[in-house]
Amino acid sequence: MSELKEVLTKDGSYSLRSVFFQENFHSLSGALEETKLKFTATSNLPRFKDKSLNVLDICFGLGYNSASLLEELIKQNSLLNLYALEIDKKPLEYSLRNESFLKLWAPKVKKIFASLYRKDYFEDQFFKCSILWGDARKKINLIPSSIKFDLIYLDGFSPQKCPEVWTNEFLSKVTEKLNPQGYLITYSSSAAVRKTLRNLGLDIFTIKPNFNKRTFWSQGTVAISKFDKNKLKPNFNFEKLSLIEEEHLLTKASIPYRDQNLNSSKDDIIKRRLDEQLFSNLLSTNEWREKWGLTKLSVKS
Ligand SMILES: C[S@@+](CC[C@H](N)C(=O)[O-])C[C@H]1O[C@@H](n2cnc3c(N)ncnc32)[C@H](O)[C@@H]1O
Repeated sequence: MSELKEVLTKDGSYSLRSVFFQENFHSLSGALEETKLKFTATSNLPRFKDKSLNVLDICFGLGYNSASLLEELIKQNSLLNLYALEIDKKPLEYSLRNESFLKLWAPKVKKIFASLYRKDYFEDQFFKCSILWGDARKKINLIPSSIKFDLIYLDGFSPQKCPEVWTNEFLSKVTEKLNPQGYLITYSSSAAVRKTLRNLGLDIFTIKPNFNKRTFWSQGTVAISKFDKNKLKPNFNFEKLSLIEEEHLLTKASIPYRDQNLNSSKDDIIKRRLDEQLFSNLLSTNEWREKWGLTKLSVKS
């Protein structure tokens, strides 16, 4: 599963490409930029200054999202309980060998990552971190049910390439672990993922587009459990879905990925969804695209 190729992204940070999944780990415009803009900035971390928080990083990969989180929390004396899920040890092995990656962060991040690699665990007076190696669909069950997360990062390969981590059944397990007011953050703006999260009772928001890259109308999704309107400040980098995005959720693209026993193959999950789309009366996604003058490229799913 793990033939990986090194990729230098446009902001100078390194990433990987998976030959098996035929997809890059990060946007070519910048691995570091993607982490900072989509995950770290959206997390609104200053609210945890001098406080404690629980975070779940699903699809840890090279560890950009956790590293950037740790870096910010070190600066603000937060106490962190971090869980990470990942099927493949090779990306972390790569990070620990890549000096340019390690230089991006405080030395403590390297110490934590080395300990996660050797012992699957790190603990000191501020941080308690565990990584569970294996299929996230199974390993998520090992997280004690008493732990609810303030932040969940979901950074799998795209739903078409790795539907296993975007199904209704997996997302249902994930969202059960979200604290009230907790944020689930993902780079995906897939209608299927958004509709599933909404059906699971979460309030969903769009991560505001980056104006330098006008082709994208969204940079991802934030799903909040028991959202408190009074706490959403206008300067947050996420907002309500636009009309285009709401209408996207009325099309066949919003049909969920399903995996009833959480053990289906990728091909079975994709085929089941295609069958459901074939018999659905929902608007075709092409009609929606034409109505809004969108090209396929501008709809990242
Ligand atoms: C897009 S990359 C993650 C990028 C990552 N957040 C980073 O900073 O590098 C997707 C990751 O998901 C992992 N993965 C794929 N299928 C998985 C599964 N079923 N369970 C857990 N991890 C999985 C891959 O090994 C890969 O590291």
